[in-house]
Amino acid sequence: MSEVVVGLDIGTSRVRAVIGEISDAGVFQITGVGTSPSTGLRKGVVVNIENTVRAVSQAVEAAELMSGLEVSRCVIGLGGTHVDGLNSRGVVAVTGKGRDNREIGQDDISRVIDAAKAVVIPMDRQVIHVIPQSYIVDEQRGVKDPRNMIGVRLEAEVHIITGSVTSVQNLVKCVNRANLQVDEYMYQALASVKSVMSEEERELGSILIDLGGGTTDVLAIADGAPLLTAVLPVGGIQVTNDISIVKGISVETAERIKLDAGCCWMPLIEENEEVILPGVGGRPPVVIPRSEICEIVQPRMAELFGMVKEKLGPIMKTRQLSGNIVITGGGALLPGVVELASDIFGTQAVRIGVPGNFGGLTGEYRSPDYATVLGLVLDAQERMAYSVEETSTQERKARPGLDRIKLWFKEFF
Ligand SMILES: Nc1ncnc2c1ncn2[C@@H]1O[C@H](COP(=O)(O)OP(=O)(O)OP(=O)(O)O)[C@@H](O)[C@H]1O
Ligand SMILES: [Mg+2]
Repeated sequence: MSEVVVGLDIGTSRVRAVIGEISDAGVFQITGVGTSPSTGLRKGVVVNIENTVRAVSQAVEAAELMSGLEVSRCVIGLGGTHVDGLNSRGVVAVTGKGRDNREIGQDDISRVIDAAKAVVIPMDRQVIHVIPQSYIVDEQRGVKDPRNMIGVRLEAEVHIITGSVTSVQNLVKCVNRANLQVDEYMYQALASVKSVMSEEERELGSILIDLGGGTTDVLAIADGAPLLTAVLPVGGIQVTNDISIVKGISVETAERIKLDAGCCWMPLIEENEEVILPGVGGRPPVVIPRSEICEIVQPRMAELFGMVKEKLGPIMKTRQLSGNIVITGGGALLPGVVELASDIFGTQAVRIGVPGNFGGLTGEYRSPDYATVLGLVLDAQERMAYSVEETSTQERKARPGLDRIKLWFKEFF
Protein backbone atom coordinates (compact mmCIF):
# COMPACT_ATOMS: atom_id res chain seq x y z
CA MET A 1 0.00 0.00 0.00
CA SER A 2 1.33 3.41 -0.87
CA GLU A 3 1.89 6.13 1.75
CA VAL A 4 0.18 9.49 1.37
CA VAL A 5 1.58 12.92 2.28
CA VAL A 6 -0.47 16.12 2.21
CA GLY A 7 0.88 19.68 2.27
CA LEU A 8 -1.32 22.65 3.08
CA ASP A 9 -0.21 26.25 2.56
CA ILE A 10 -2.76 28.65 4.04
CA GLY A 11 -1.67 31.95 2.54
CA THR A 12 -3.16 35.42 2.68
CA SER A 13 -4.10 35.31 -1.02
CA ARG A 14 -4.70 31.63 -1.64
CA VAL A 15 -4.92 28.29 0.12
CA ARG A 16 -3.07 25.50 -1.67
CA ALA A 17 -3.23 21.77 -0.98
CA VAL A 18 -1.02 19.14 -2.55
CA ILE A 19 -1.33 15.36 -2.21
CA GLY A 20 1.66 13.15 -2.85
CA GLU A 21 1.87 9.37 -2.91
CA ILE A 22 4.91 7.26 -2.16
CA SER A 23 4.71 3.83 -3.75
CA ASP A 24 6.03 0.65 -2.14
CA ALA A 25 9.04 0.97 -4.40
CA GLY A 26 9.66 4.43 -2.91
CA VAL A 27 8.62 6.44 -5.97
CA PHE A 28 7.15 9.81 -5.05
CA GLN A 29 4.33 11.09 -7.22
CA ILE A 30 2.24 14.23 -6.79
CA THR A 31 -1.31 13.17 -7.61
CA GLY A 32 -3.51 15.98 -6.37
CA VAL A 33 -3.34 19.77 -6.38
CA GLY A 34 -6.11 22.07 -5.20
CA THR A 35 -6.36 25.78 -4.59
CA SER A 36 -8.95 28.27 -3.43
CA PRO A 37 -9.06 32.01 -2.77
CA SER A 38 -8.26 32.88 0.83
CA THR A 39 -10.31 35.54 2.57
CA GLY A 40 -9.87 34.71 6.25
CA LEU A 41 -6.29 35.91 6.76
CA ARG A 42 -4.59 39.25 7.21
CA LYS A 43 -0.83 39.42 6.79
CA GLY A 44 -0.58 35.66 7.17
CA VAL A 45 -2.63 35.50 10.37
CA VAL A 46 -6.14 34.02 10.68
CA VAL A 47 -8.67 36.76 11.38
CA ASN A 48 -11.81 34.91 10.29
CA ILE A 49 -12.18 31.25 11.24
CA GLU A 50 -15.26 30.50 9.09
CA ASN A 51 -13.73 31.87 5.89
CA THR A 52 -10.46 30.08 6.51
CA VAL A 53 -12.16 26.74 7.21
CA ARG A 54 -14.16 27.11 4.00
CA ALA A 55 -11.08 27.95 1.93
CA VAL A 56 -9.13 25.02 3.41
CA SER A 57 -12.01 22.61 2.71
CA GLN A 58 -12.32 23.83 -0.86
CA ALA A 59 -8.61 23.49 -1.61
CA VAL A 60 -8.39 20.05 0.00
CA GLU A 61 -11.52 18.80 -1.78
CA ALA A 62 -10.15 19.95 -5.12
CA ALA A 63 -6.88 18.11 -4.45
CA GLU A 64 -8.80 15.01 -3.33
CA LEU A 65 -10.91 15.09 -6.45
CA MET A 66 -7.81 15.21 -8.61
CA SER A 67 -6.02 12.39 -6.79
CA GLY A 68 -9.09 10.22 -6.13
CA LEU A 69 -8.03 9.90 -2.48
CA GLU A 70 -9.65 11.01 0.73
CA VAL A 71 -7.15 12.50 3.14
CA SER A 72 -7.32 13.01 6.89
CA ARG A 73 -3.89 14.30 7.93
CA CYS A 74 -1.57 16.99 6.65
CA VAL A 75 1.53 19.09 7.15
CA ILE A 76 0.87 22.81 7.34
CA GLY A 77 2.98 25.87 6.67
CA LEU A 78 3.21 28.53 9.37
CA GLY A 79 3.71 32.14 8.43
CA GLY A 80 2.64 35.64 9.18
CA THR A 81 4.07 38.65 10.90
CA HIS A 82 4.15 36.87 14.28
CA VAL A 83 6.98 34.58 13.10
CA ASP A 84 10.46 35.61 14.13
CA GLY A 85 13.96 34.12 14.26
CA LEU A 86 16.90 34.41 16.64
CA ASN A 87 20.33 32.89 16.96
CA SER A 88 21.34 31.20 20.18
CA ARG A 89 24.06 28.97 21.60
CA GLY A 90 24.34 26.29 24.23
CA VAL A 91 27.23 24.57 25.97
CA VAL A 92 27.48 21.19 27.72
CA ALA A 93 30.21 18.96 29.08
CA VAL A 94 30.59 15.74 27.09
CA THR A 95 29.62 12.84 29.35
CA GLY A 96 30.89 9.94 27.29
CA LYS A 97 28.20 7.95 29.12
CA GLY A 98 28.43 4.24 28.42
CA ARG A 99 31.41 4.80 26.16
CA ASP A 100 35.11 4.23 26.77
CA ASN A 101 36.17 7.82 26.47
CA ARG A 102 34.69 11.26 25.96
CA GLU A 103 33.20 10.44 22.60
CA ILE A 104 30.27 12.67 21.61
CA GLY A 105 27.03 10.72 21.27
CA GLN A 106 23.48 11.54 20.21
CA ASP A 107 22.53 12.23 23.84
CA ASP A 108 25.22 14.93 24.11
CA ILE A 109 23.93 16.52 20.90
CA SER A 110 20.35 16.48 22.16
CA ARG A 111 21.47 18.03 25.46
CA VAL A 112 23.43 20.82 23.80
CA ILE A 113 20.50 21.61 21.49
CA ASP A 114 18.24 21.74 24.54
CA ALA A 115 20.69 24.07 26.25
CA ALA A 116 20.71 26.36 23.20
CA LYS A 117 16.93 26.25 23.17
CA ALA A 118 16.72 27.36 26.79
CA VAL A 119 16.69 31.05 25.91
CA VAL A 120 13.94 33.07 27.47
CA ILE A 121 11.00 32.91 25.13
CA PRO A 122 7.93 34.90 26.21
CA MET A 123 4.96 32.83 27.42
CA ASP A 124 2.83 33.85 24.47
CA ARG A 125 5.36 32.51 21.94
CA GLN A 126 6.34 28.98 21.02
CA VAL A 127 9.36 27.41 19.38
CA ILE A 128 8.61 26.24 15.85
CA HIS A 129 12.10 25.11 14.82
CA VAL A 130 15.52 24.74 16.36
CA ILE A 131 18.03 24.28 13.59
CA PRO A 132 21.69 23.60 14.37
CA GLN A 133 24.08 25.86 12.47
CA SER A 134 27.38 24.47 13.66
CA TYR A 135 29.15 23.00 16.67
CA ILE A 136 32.28 23.84 18.55
CA VAL A 137 34.12 20.86 20.06
CA ASP A 138 36.61 22.19 22.63
CA GLU A 139 38.43 24.82 20.55
CA GLN A 140 37.51 23.33 17.18
CA ARG A 141 35.00 25.65 15.47
CA GLY A 142 32.76 25.01 12.47
CA VAL A 143 32.08 21.34 13.17
CA LYS A 144 29.03 20.18 11.25
CA ASP A 145 28.61 16.73 12.71
CA PRO A 146 30.22 16.23 16.12
CA ARG A 147 29.03 12.64 16.47
CA ASN A 148 31.84 10.26 17.51
CA MET A 149 34.35 13.08 17.92
CA ILE A 150 36.35 13.14 21.15
CA GLY A 151 35.93 16.24 23.28
CA VAL A 152 35.31 17.64 26.72
CA ARG A 153 33.15 20.61 25.87
CA LEU A 154 30.43 20.71 23.22
CA GLU A 155 28.93 23.97 22.08
CA ALA A 156 26.09 24.39 19.57
CA GLU A 157 25.08 27.42 17.56
CA VAL A 158 21.43 27.25 16.54
CA HIS A 159 18.78 29.26 14.77
CA ILE A 160 15.44 29.30 16.59
CA ILE A 161 12.21 30.19 14.81
CA THR A 162 9.32 31.18 17.06
CA GLY A 163 5.69 32.11 16.55
CA SER A 164 2.72 33.34 18.52
CA VAL A 165 0.96 30.52 20.38
CA THR A 166 -2.51 31.83 19.64
CA SER A 167 -1.84 32.40 15.93
CA VAL A 168 -0.59 28.82 15.60
CA GLN A 169 -3.57 27.51 17.58
CA ASN A 170 -6.06 29.40 15.43
CA LEU A 171 -4.52 28.03 12.25
CA VAL A 172 -4.53 24.46 13.58
CA LYS A 173 -8.12 24.94 14.71
CA CYS A 174 -9.17 25.93 11.17
CA VAL A 175 -7.48 22.86 9.72
CA ASN A 176 -9.08 20.60 12.33
CA ARG A 177 -12.47 22.11 11.62
CA ALA A 178 -11.93 21.24 7.97
CA ASN A 179 -11.61 17.62 9.20
CA LEU A 180 -7.87 17.31 8.91
CA GLN A 181 -5.35 16.42 11.56
CA VAL A 182 -2.10 18.39 11.64
CA ASP A 183 0.90 16.04 11.79
CA GLU A 184 3.63 18.67 11.51
CA TYR A 185 4.09 22.32 10.90
CA MET A 186 6.90 24.11 9.19
CA TYR A 187 7.74 27.77 8.76
CA GLN A 188 6.58 28.62 5.23
CA ALA A 189 9.82 30.14 4.01
CA LEU A 190 11.78 27.05 5.13
CA ALA A 191 9.39 24.99 3.02
CA SER A 192 9.97 27.33 0.07
CA VAL A 193 13.73 26.94 0.53
CA LYS A 194 13.29 23.18 0.25
CA SER A 195 11.54 23.37 -3.09
CA VAL A 196 13.41 26.19 -4.83
CA MET A 197 16.95 26.52 -3.46
CA SER A 198 19.77 24.19 -4.43
CA GLU A 199 22.01 22.59 -1.87
CA GLU A 200 24.96 24.47 -3.35
CA GLU A 201 23.17 27.80 -2.85
CA ARG A 202 22.37 26.92 0.78
CA GLU A 203 26.00 26.05 1.44
CA LEU A 204 27.46 29.11 -0.27
CA GLY A 205 25.11 31.48 1.51
CA SER A 206 21.90 32.66 -0.13
CA ILE A 207 18.80 34.67 0.59
CA LEU A 208 15.24 33.58 -0.01
CA ILE A 209 12.66 36.31 -0.53
CA ASP A 210 9.10 34.95 -0.62
CA LEU A 211 6.87 37.67 -2.01
CA GLY A 212 3.40 36.69 -0.83
CA GLY A 213 0.11 38.54 -0.87
CA GLY A 214 0.15 39.76 2.72
CA THR A 215 3.74 39.28 3.81
CA THR A 216 7.26 39.10 2.49
CA ASP A 217 9.39 36.42 4.14
CA VAL A 218 13.14 36.75 4.22
CA LEU A 219 15.40 33.84 5.10
CA ALA A 220 19.17 34.02 4.93
CA ILE A 221 20.93 30.65 4.79
CA ALA A 222 24.64 29.87 4.98
CA ASP A 223 26.53 26.60 5.46
CA GLY A 224 23.20 24.86 5.02
CA ALA A 225 21.42 26.45 8.00
CA PRO A 226 19.34 29.60 8.52
CA LEU A 227 21.07 32.70 9.86
CA LEU A 228 18.21 35.14 9.80
CA THR A 229 14.42 34.95 9.61
CA ALA A 230 12.29 38.03 9.08
CA VAL A 231 8.68 38.55 8.08
CA LEU A 232 7.77 41.94 6.65
CA PRO A 233 4.12 43.04 6.82
CA VAL A 234 4.01 44.00 3.14
CA GLY A 235 3.20 42.02 0.01
CA GLY A 236 1.47 41.98 -3.35
CA ILE A 237 -1.83 43.19 -1.88
CA GLN A 238 -0.28 46.61 -1.24
CA VAL A 239 0.76 46.86 -4.88
CA THR A 240 -2.80 46.06 -5.97
CA ASN A 241 -4.20 48.62 -3.51
CA ASP A 242 -1.85 51.28 -4.88
CA ILE A 243 -3.10 50.68 -8.42
CA SER A 244 -6.69 50.72 -7.21
CA ILE A 245 -6.29 54.02 -5.35
CA VAL A 246 -4.21 55.88 -7.93
CA LYS A 247 -6.38 54.82 -10.87
CA GLY A 248 -9.72 55.01 -9.05
CA ILE A 249 -10.68 51.43 -9.90
CA SER A 250 -11.91 48.52 -7.79
CA VAL A 251 -9.40 46.25 -6.06
CA GLU A 252 -10.57 43.33 -8.26
CA THR A 253 -9.92 45.30 -11.46
CA ALA A 254 -6.60 46.56 -10.10
CA GLU A 255 -5.53 42.96 -9.36
CA ARG A 256 -6.44 41.87 -12.89
CA ILE A 257 -4.52 44.78 -14.39
CA LYS A 258 -1.51 43.98 -12.20
CA LEU A 259 -1.56 40.34 -13.35
CA ASP A 260 -2.03 41.26 -17.03
CA ALA A 261 0.13 44.34 -17.34
CA GLY A 262 2.04 44.86 -14.08
CA CYS A 263 5.77 45.47 -14.27
CA CYS A 264 8.29 46.84 -11.78
CA TRP A 265 11.18 47.72 -14.09
CA MET A 266 10.55 50.59 -16.47
CA PRO A 267 13.21 49.67 -19.09
CA LEU A 268 11.21 46.50 -19.87
CA ILE A 269 8.24 48.50 -21.13
CA GLU A 270 7.97 49.25 -24.86
CA GLU A 271 7.00 52.76 -25.84
CA ASN A 272 3.67 51.94 -27.46
CA GLU A 273 2.34 49.42 -24.89
CA GLU A 274 -1.13 50.28 -23.67
CA VAL A 275 -3.55 49.11 -20.97
CA ILE A 276 -7.33 49.44 -20.98
CA LEU A 277 -8.83 50.61 -17.70
CA PRO A 278 -12.54 49.73 -17.52
CA GLY A 279 -14.84 52.67 -16.88
CA VAL A 280 -16.37 53.02 -13.44
CA GLY A 281 -20.05 53.88 -12.94
CA GLY A 282 -21.00 53.95 -16.61
CA ARG A 283 -17.97 55.94 -17.74
CA PRO A 284 -16.29 54.66 -20.90
CA PRO A 285 -13.05 52.70 -20.58
CA VAL A 286 -9.81 54.63 -20.91
CA VAL A 287 -6.59 53.61 -22.58
CA ILE A 288 -3.40 54.47 -20.73
CA PRO A 289 0.27 53.72 -21.43
CA ARG A 290 1.53 50.62 -19.57
CA SER A 291 4.30 52.77 -18.17
CA GLU A 292 1.73 54.47 -15.92
CA ILE A 293 1.12 51.14 -14.17
CA CYS A 294 4.87 50.65 -13.81
CA GLU A 295 5.15 54.13 -12.27
CA ILE A 296 2.85 52.92 -9.50
CA VAL A 297 4.25 49.40 -9.04
CA GLN A 298 7.99 50.04 -9.26
CA PRO A 299 8.31 52.48 -6.30
CA ARG A 300 6.30 50.16 -4.03
CA MET A 301 8.40 47.14 -4.98
CA ALA A 302 11.58 49.21 -4.61
CA GLU A 303 10.44 50.21 -1.13
CA LEU A 304 9.79 46.57 -0.29
CA PHE A 305 13.23 45.41 -1.48
CA GLY A 306 14.69 48.37 0.43
CA MET A 307 13.08 47.05 3.61
CA VAL A 308 14.47 43.57 2.91
CA LYS A 309 17.94 45.07 2.40
CA GLU A 310 17.70 46.92 5.69
CA LYS A 311 16.77 43.70 7.52
CA LEU A 312 19.70 41.91 5.93
CA GLY A 313 22.13 44.75 6.72
CA PRO A 314 23.77 43.28 9.84
CA ILE A 315 24.45 39.83 8.35
CA MET A 316 25.55 41.22 4.99
CA LYS A 317 28.28 43.06 6.91
CA THR A 318 29.50 40.07 8.87
CA ARG A 319 28.99 37.14 6.52
CA GLN A 320 30.08 36.51 2.98
CA LEU A 321 27.05 35.18 1.15
CA SER A 322 28.27 34.09 -2.25
CA GLY A 323 25.19 32.23 -3.43
CA ASN A 324 22.08 33.81 -4.89
CA ILE A 325 19.16 35.97 -3.94
CA VAL A 326 16.25 33.69 -4.80
CA ILE A 327 12.87 35.36 -5.22
CA THR A 328 9.77 33.24 -4.96
CA GLY A 329 6.05 33.41 -4.01
CA GLY A 330 3.34 34.84 -6.27
CA GLY A 331 5.04 38.24 -6.39
CA ALA A 332 8.00 36.66 -8.18
CA LEU A 333 5.75 36.41 -11.25
CA LEU A 334 5.71 40.18 -11.58
CA PRO A 335 7.84 41.12 -14.61
CA GLY A 336 10.94 43.09 -13.65
CA VAL A 337 11.46 41.70 -10.12
CA VAL A 338 14.88 40.26 -10.96
CA GLU A 339 16.04 43.49 -12.60
CA LEU A 340 14.74 45.67 -9.75
CA ALA A 341 16.20 43.41 -7.04
CA SER A 342 19.56 43.32 -8.87
CA ASP A 343 19.58 47.10 -8.92
CA ILE A 344 18.65 47.49 -5.26
CA PHE A 345 20.90 44.77 -3.85
CA GLY A 346 23.72 45.72 -6.25
CA THR A 347 24.30 42.18 -7.52
CA GLN A 348 23.57 40.13 -10.60
CA ALA A 349 23.20 36.99 -8.46
CA VAL A 350 19.41 37.17 -8.41
CA ARG A 351 17.05 34.57 -9.80
CA ILE A 352 13.42 33.49 -9.63
CA GLY A 353 12.85 30.43 -7.43
CA VAL A 354 10.76 27.89 -9.31
CA PRO A 355 10.02 24.55 -7.60
CA GLY A 356 12.33 21.76 -8.70
CA ASN A 357 11.40 18.83 -10.85
CA PHE A 358 10.16 16.31 -8.30
CA GLY A 359 7.09 14.14 -7.90
CA GLY A 360 6.35 14.15 -11.63
CA LEU A 361 5.28 17.76 -11.38
CA THR A 362 3.75 19.26 -14.49
CA GLY A 363 4.57 22.71 -15.83
CA GLU A 364 1.46 24.43 -14.51
CA TYR A 365 2.41 23.90 -10.86
CA ARG A 366 6.12 24.45 -11.26
CA SER A 367 5.50 28.07 -10.45
CA PRO A 368 6.90 30.30 -7.67
CA ASP A 369 3.48 30.64 -6.00
CA TYR A 370 3.53 26.86 -5.36
CA ALA A 371 6.97 26.97 -3.71
CA THR A 372 5.71 26.72 -0.12
CA VAL A 373 3.14 23.95 -0.54
CA LEU A 374 5.48 21.87 -2.69
CA GLY A 375 8.26 22.32 -0.13
CA LEU A 376 5.87 21.05 2.54
CA VAL A 377 5.05 17.82 0.70
CA LEU A 378 8.67 17.34 -0.32
CA ASP A 379 9.76 17.65 3.30
CA ALA A 380 6.99 15.29 4.46
CA GLN A 381 8.02 12.77 1.84
CA GLU A 382 11.70 12.98 2.79
CA ARG A 383 10.87 12.65 6.46
CA MET A 384 8.80 9.58 5.76
CA ALA A 385 11.52 8.02 3.63
CA TYR A 386 14.06 8.85 6.32
CA SER A 387 12.07 7.33 9.18
CA VAL A 388 11.49 4.18 7.11
CA GLU A 389 15.25 4.03 6.52
CA GLU A 390 15.93 4.56 10.21
CA THR A 391 13.47 1.94 11.36
CA SER A 392 14.61 -0.61 8.86
CA THR A 393 18.26 -0.26 9.87
CA GLN A 394 17.14 -0.53 13.50
CA GLU A 395 19.63 2.16 14.41
CA ARG A 396 17.26 4.16 16.54
CA LYS A 397 13.63 4.08 17.49
CA ALA A 398 11.54 6.63 15.66
CA ARG A 399 11.22 9.75 17.78
CA PRO A 400 8.82 12.03 15.91
CA GLY A 401 9.69 15.11 17.95
CA LEU A 402 13.28 14.92 16.81
CA ASP A 403 12.55 14.20 13.19
CA ARG A 404 12.80 17.81 12.17
CA ILE A 405 16.25 18.19 13.65
CA LYS A 406 17.32 14.84 12.30
CA LEU A 407 16.17 15.77 8.86
CA TRP A 408 18.10 19.01 8.87
CA PHE A 409 21.07 16.98 10.14
CA LYS A 410 20.65 14.59 7.29
CA GLU A 411 20.50 17.42 4.86
CA PHE A 412 23.54 19.20 6.13
CA PHE A 413 25.97 16.36 6.44
N1 LIG B 1 1.51 37.07 -12.55
C1 LIG B 1 1.59 37.84 -11.48
N2 LIG B 1 2.09 39.08 -11.55
C2 LIG B 1 2.15 39.87 -10.46
N3 LIG B 1 1.77 39.49 -9.23
C3 LIG B 1 1.27 38.26 -9.09
C4 LIG B 1 1.16 37.36 -10.20
N4 LIG B 1 0.59 36.20 -9.75
C5 LIG B 1 0.39 36.37 -8.43
N5 LIG B 1 0.77 37.61 -8.03
C6 LIG B 1 0.64 38.21 -6.70
O1 LIG B 1 1.20 37.35 -5.74
C7 LIG B 1 0.50 37.52 -4.51
C8 LIG B 1 0.11 36.18 -3.97
O2 LIG B 1 1.24 35.39 -3.78
P1 LIG B 1 1.16 34.02 -2.99
O3 LIG B 1 0.13 33.18 -3.60
O4 LIG B 1 2.54 33.52 -2.88
O5 LIG B 1 0.62 34.59 -1.59
P2 LIG B 1 0.11 33.83 -0.32
O6 LIG B 1 0.99 32.67 -0.05
O7 LIG B 1 -1.35 33.54 -0.44
O8 LIG B 1 0.28 34.96 0.79
P3 LIG B 1 1.23 35.04 2.07
O9 LIG B 1 2.37 34.13 1.85
O10 LIG B 1 1.64 36.48 2.14
O11 LIG B 1 0.37 34.67 3.23
C9 LIG B 1 -0.73 38.36 -4.80
O12 LIG B 1 -0.54 39.67 -4.30
C10 LIG B 1 -0.80 38.34 -6.31
O13 LIG B 1 -1.32 39.54 -6.82
MG1 LIG C 1 2.80 32.36 0.96
